[in-house]
Amino acid sequence: MAPVTSIASNVNQRLADALAAALPETVGDPLLRRSDRADFQANGILALAKKAKGNPRELATKVTDALDAADLLKEVEVSGPGFLNITVTDRAIIETLAARAADGDRLGVPLKENPGVTVVDYAQPNVAKEMHVGHLRSAVIGDALRGMLDFTGEKTIGRHHIGDWGTQFGMLIQYVIEHPDELPAATDADGEQAMSTLNRIYKASRAVFDADEEFKERARKRVVALQSGDEETLDLWQRFVDESKVYFYSVFEKLDMEIRDDEIVGESAYNDMMAETARILEEKGVAVRSEGALVVFFDDIKGKDDQPVPLIVQKKDGGFGYAASDLSAIRDRVLDLDATSLLYVVDVRQSLHFKMVFETARRAEWLNDDVTAHNMAYGTVLGADGKPFKTREGVSVRLEDLLDEAVERATAVVREKAEKVGLTEEEIVANGRYVGIGAVKYADLSTSPSRDYKFDLDQMVSLNGDTSVYLQYAYARIRSILRLAEGASPVAHPELELAPAERALGLHLDAFGELLAEATAEYAPHKLAAYLYQLASLYTTFYDQCPVIKPRPAQEVAENRLFLCDLTARTLHQGMALLGIRTPERL
Ligand code: ARG
Repeated sequence: MAPVTSIASNVNQRLADALAAALPETVGDPLLRRSDRADFQANGILALAKKAKGNPRELATKVTDALDAADLLKEVEVSGPGFLNITVTDRAIIETLAARAADGDRLGVPLKENPGVTVVDYAQPNVAKEMHVGHLRSAVIGDALRGMLDFTGEKTIGRHHIGDWGTQFGMLIQYVIEHPDELPAATDADGEQAMSTLNRIYKASRAVFDADEEFKERARKRVVALQSGDEETLDLWQRFVDESKVYFYSVFEKLDMEIRDDEIVGESAYNDMMAETARILEEKGVAVRSEGALVVFFDDIKGKDDQPVPLIVQKKDGGFGYAASDLSAIRDRVLDLDATSLLYVVDVRQSLHFKMVFETARRAEWLNDDVTAHNMAYGTVLGADGKPFKTREGVSVRLEDLLDEAVERATAVVREKAEKVGLTEEEIVANGRYVGIGAVKYADLSTSPSRDYKFDLDQMVSLNGDTSVYLQYAYARIRSILRLAEGASPVAHPELELAPAERALGLHLDAFGELLAEATAEYAPHKLAAYLYQLASLYTTFYDQCPVIKPRPAQEVAENRLFLCDLTARTLHQGMALLGIRTPERL
């Protein structure tokens, strides 16, 4: 494995050296950016000259003279009040890309210097409840962030904090005790059957619960039995969890997403820690007793009438809730899993909860400057009409139906072109799935997570515009060009002069690693999506302007262009894979 220094950071380093020679007493960043005028523009000299009370243009000229980089730089021009316009050599571009191409799947992207351990809390549906589009977002964004983090060398641990605890289980368990035939003894159901059983029990038990005071009382006692570890109660609770998992897994499989059983660690897993969490918080003076409950107050969090809204660690009746489980989970993740970052991919509507939980954990010193928590709060999923996503009848849309429809539409799109490409029926079905699921994921990931986004299937499976289908077709087209290029294979030729479209594509390919580092550090998968879309667009321009096969250019030129094709395909493939999206070879 050989990491490659990108041209941008190479140029930046040479500029910094020249700056140091020209202006020994200051250290400063040349502030290199990609530019339309030349390949790069350095804007940092202006401010540095002012700081040293010198003339910016003069300093810029001095820096240019001190630059030692004939191999790397074709032209350096002082422009405006003291900018540098920089053009790199064609040789540097192809040589750098050749080093990337020689580095397998990593494409020369270096591993982060001080990797930490990030616990990613994502894909957390609730037991005995249908998953909704919000759970979809958490799963898709969390999975992509995890892929990106792993690629940078960070160690990630997944935590699916499923809702598997709470008072509703008293009602459910009591109901199946009184109606023993309702819940199958073993789970041999498929996901859909499992969910429909759970739905039926949920509705039936709810109806009895609302109508029958005595049942309500028995259900309440059942909660106590559950919390105190009564065996029969726990067994039944476990069956609800197992049945739900069958359903969860069927959805995750549809989503083409791998979820590990040992990472499904729900609210219940922290049950044994909660009393101690409360005790520590009280001892440290972080939490105080108020009207019988144990709570934490915050200066800046006020509700109606300017009354402080506390975080409730323990209720008046001694019970623990959502906050106590999250606080215990933080202790576990920091102290036992040695996490250095905690990342939560949770609906923005829970932001206040996490703000209070994180602040409490800081006061308790579980979190500090070295161990931080971040809530990647995502916005609401809207329908094509811009209103919260519902069916025409106003009920939430079932996730599986949504995914099935995406696959169905994508399959139709794939089928239309299938004959020309010569796809078998099997390939059509497989590709339809990858395109449909990819479309759903990409639409989500290409929007900034904090924004609401429109779930619009027509737009998602469109071949034009910023969609995964467009990127998947770009990839498959390149692969087919590589297959068809008889008598020539990808070979880098640094001695050749490059066309503008080749340079633009090449410089963008070279920026993959830096873009990835930035997008990952900012937890911003949409930046990776935007990069890939731009890559496909630059490729299209390149392919229009620089013939690869027909008309056949000189042998070396053909080989060098095939080399650019190949590296583009590999970068697209890797980038999409990090986002959790497949790129079929033939489409
Ligand atoms: N199960 C919760 C829900 O569906 C999300 C859990 C989020 N994670 C956490 N650590 N609280 O709303």
